[in-house]
Amino acid sequence: MPYNQTRLDAVLSAITWPRDIELVTQYFSEYKENRVPVLDLIYHNPHRFFCVMGRERFESENTRGFWVIPWDIRDYSDSPDHPWTEDNVLSLYMGREMSKYFSMQGEAYWTGRKVYDVGCGTCIFGIELTRLGAEVIARTSGAESLMVSACNLIEHNFDLDLDFGLKCAENIETDSDTYIFHDIFYEYGLAQMNADTMRYLAGLGKEVIFTAPFHTRDAVAGVVPRAGEGWYKMMALEEGEYEVALSTEYHGDPEGWGPREVLRML
Ligand SMILES: C[S@@+](CC[C@H](N)C(=O)[O-])C[C@H]1O[C@@H](n2cnc3c(N)ncnc32)[C@H](O)[C@@H]1O
Repeated sequence: MPYNQTRLDAVLSAITWPRDIELVTQYFSEYKENRVPVLDLIYHNPHRFFCVMGRERFESENTRGFWVIPWDIRDYSDSPDHPWTEDNVLSLYMGREMSKYFSMQGEAYWTGRKVYDVGCGTCIFGIELTRLGAEVIARTSGAESLMVSACNLIEHNFDLDLDFGLKCAENIETDSDTYIFHDIFYEYGLAQMNADTMRYLAGLGKEVIFTAPFHTRDAVAGVVPRAGEGWYKMMALEEGEYEVALSTEYHGDPEGWGPREVLRML
């Protein structure tokens, strides 16, 4: 018997596409605790559900057959004079280098490992890591991001611990082994807070890995395109606070972009 049939019925009666009815029914067909926030979310935001379900899906570059809903690249394709290309932005949104880091470490590393994705966005890392054997907690403070995450979980029939929450040093749960901060350094105050949280977790001996949307080391140093225009104004982590865990080039990046990097706090 699915949890909270009334809510589920209300969600299902609002959906018109047969494929989505099937996916949602399948996802909620058995009670699992972690699905509660997902059902609550869709129940309260049915219009957002449609907006997300209409989006194009893309295949991960590292995991064949893994199709997900990324951030909407149209957000960027309309703006003139920006340094990005569509291919480049999509690849950033798909977390190309982060997911490469996951496969580089290998299944033995992730199996049984507790991983916490801070600002999980689309939850695609959570799904990839669960597939590799990790036990994942995913938190995000953005309503849209939570909805994209929920839809990705439904698509993949995944039950991981997803919920709303703005996490900082004062309230983050500290029983995970690895903490991921991907593309969450884009507003000055938030970036500072996240940097402090990263320092705090590293001080507890946690593995803390992160990337920024641009050439990561420039971003952490505050030298990024359009910095100073109120747009991607970063905090600075000091050299010596982190090391390079992975460095890779991407052919779709504009000239002069530099390597994509996953950094690890020391
Ligand atoms: C640009 S998105 C990137 C998300 C995801 N990591 C990705 O790469 O697709 C940033 C999201 O992280 C959330 N976020 C940033 N800092 C956070 C924090 N400390 N705790 C929870 N959510 C956070 C924001 O609300 C937003 O939805």
